[in-house]
Amino acid sequence: MMAAAPRTKAARSPWFKLVWIVPLIIVVLLAVVLLARWMTGLASVEQFMTDYPGKQPLPESAPVGFPAWLGWQHFLNIFFLVLIVKSGWQVRTNTRPKVFWTRNNKGLIRTKGSPKKISLDLWLHLSVDALWVLNGIIFYVLLFVTGQWMRIVPTSWDVIPNALTATLHYVSLDWPLETGWVNYNALQLLAYFATVFIAAPLAIITGLRMSGAWPQNATRLNKAYPIEWARAVHYPVMLYFVAFTIVHVTLVLATGALNNLNHMYAANDEVNWVGFWIFAASLVVLAAAWILARPLFLRPIASLTGKVGR
Ligand code: HEM
Ligand code: HEM
Repeated sequence: MMAAAPRTKAARSPWFKLVWIVPLIIVVLLAVVLLARWMTGLASVEQFMTDYPGKQPLPESAPVGFPAWLGWQHFLNIFFLVLIVKSGWQVRTNTRPKVFWTRNNKGLIRTKGSPKKISLDLWLHLSVDALWVLNGIIFYVLLFVTGQWMRIVPTSWDVIPNALTATLHYVSLDWPLETGWVNYNALQLLAYFATVFIAAPLAIITGLRMSGAWPQNATRLNKAYPIEWARAVHYPVMLYFVAFTIVHVTLVLATGALNNLNHMYAANDEVNWVGFWIFAASLVVLAAAWILARPLFLRPIASLTGKVGR
């Protein structure tokens, strides 16, 4: 019997698996695209896609275009989320924090007993959460006051078959020509709806459950909603936000980048470089916030409302 050949150093590397994983992924993706193309060629599917073209008509009273406030809200949301994800990740991975913050127990928020010491990472997470929620409340109010909500909330069940058509378009690589200025496609609408009206409230309700602000001795409430549930959901919600953002930005850039960026960053429907440059400048701001969010710079800010130390 032949002895098994000794495994080379390369074959023992954990990266070696990529040698078959990458081709496998490519073959599976190719098969899915071909399957979708074959399906869209069938007469019955073609009829379905004519009946449900992928966009759900908007109500007559829906506003057209992007107001400037939406651009500001969208930017502030990204700005806060970047810091929330960074600090949340630090809370999760940094098991031995070195710097802590204890709230000053004076002024308006005075409680019996001494406030709990929390890590500077969690202080940053909770502080930015408060700003993010405030931005979100203003966003909800403006959405409903201006009628802008109709663009991101389904107003009929047709949204489901329309989203199926849009999915077939994406998967068969025949990407829908975007006219997001007037109306998003149904899949895009559902993704925005899920992010604004499901993921964000879930992050808040599970985050609050884990925070010191939650009533610790509300026995019945805490039995009905155990902290373990909140722990189990909060982190996957972060993964959702990150995955949504990757797909969202890829599609924004791959389906008429200059026009799309003008929508959100310059509040117009033109094709020129203005929105792109505002977007590029906003990336510099995000990168600076990411780099500056460290104890050296956070200490003086945290000291305004509490004691910072070891
Ligand atoms: C740098 C990253 C981002 C860029 C460049 C970007 C860009 C855009 C653009 C261009 C649109 C309009 C699309 C169109 O005209 O068809 C849009 C809409 C939207 N984006 Fe983003 N986005 C980014 C990050 C995010 C993040 C992190 C979130 C939320 C987690 C988000 C949520 C949304 C929502 C909800 C809408 C629809 C808004 C409405 O019409 O009310 N975006 N984005
Ligand atoms: C108002 C909204 C939020 C509140 C009140 C909140 C609160 C909290 C609290 C109290 C913790 C610490 C849990 C612990 O001590 O173990 C935490 C951890 C964390 N948060 Fe949030 N959070 C909020 C929003 C978010 C959002 C929007 C994201 C991401 C997009 C996020 C991502 C994380 C992550 C990744 C962790 C670490 C979780 C782990 O260790 O498994 N949080 N959050």
